[in-house]
Amino acid sequence: MALTQTQQFQPGMGLTTTKAPFIEVARSRGELYIEQPYELYSEENHEAWRRLYARIQDRWQRYATEKFLEGVSKLCLDPNRVPRLDDVNRFLAPLTGFKAKAVSGYVPAYIFFDCLRRREFPTTITVRDINSLDYLPEPDIFHDIAGHVPMHTDKRFADTLVRFGEAAHTAARIVQEIKDPELQVQRIISITRALARFFWFTIEFGLMRGRNGELKVYGSGLLSSYGEIAHAIESPDVQRYPIQLEWVINQYFEIDHYQPLLFIVDSFDHLFDLVDQLERWMLEGKLNNVAPGEPTMSEEDIRSFLEAVVD
Ligand SMILES: [Fe+2]
Repeated sequence: MALTQTQQFQPGMGLTTTKAPFIEVARSRGELYIEQPYELYSEENHEAWRRLYARIQDRWQRYATEKFLEGVSKLCLDPNRVPRLDDVNRFLAPLTGFKAKAVSGYVPAYIFFDCLRRREFPTTITVRDINSLDYLPEPDIFHDIAGHVPMHTDKRFADTLVRFGEAAHTAARIVQEIKDPELQVQRIISITRALARFFWFTIEFGLMRGRNGELKVYGSGLLSSYGEIAHAIESPDVQRYPIQLEWVINQYFEIDHYQPLLFIVDSFDHLFDLVDQLERWMLEGKLNNVAPGEPTMSEEDIRSFLEAVVD
């Protein structure tokens, strides 16, 4: 009898970022959607979660947007243990229909956006190494569950993510209609670059004007970073500007250091309207030749748009 995936692994052996045999096996088998083998988390993984969660509390209170704080309390996360996705979803799904869905690693661009359209959030289940709590280039469960998912409890924000997924669907339809293969790839790269930049400067690193005019954080990259959340609001080295779509889609970014440039929205209604505008511009051809530079699109990303099922 074939062993199931979980039976090959010892309880408590760890699901540490870049050091998890369970993830390596899943990826080698081409399995993108996986279960969360909860018993594999080590005590060190739980301790890493506990420390990350404890130290960021004050910073959330000070810098996070109100909607995020409300989301945190609605999710009832355990401060001491890595969250079970099933538990998170029990609180989340009744609010907005969103669900965290465990994945084995990088999700090609179209597949990621299409998940949002279905109100599924591809979620990393590994935990960063306890010796490098401050920085890691890969997402981990703290980034995805503590940084992203509380925002998904807000109806308007959740609708914005779905709208974004619909825009990606429109992009796939547009590029699949192009007959010339070279032009087709050029278009995918340009449009996807514009979408990725928008996502980066809003969902990942967005700032919002608070009730009394003060700046608040709603971007998950900031909300899951103890150092950068304060830097984003306090540092004189950061440029902060009201968001302009034509700027954002042409603005390259780098992922390996604190962001020097951040954009501010007025509200989640404003953000939703911007996604509408983004899709309109796409249909008008305004995303066909955005400025070159980061992010680069992988073969997998390009293929995901070509192979997308569009109805
Ligand atoms: Fe993220």
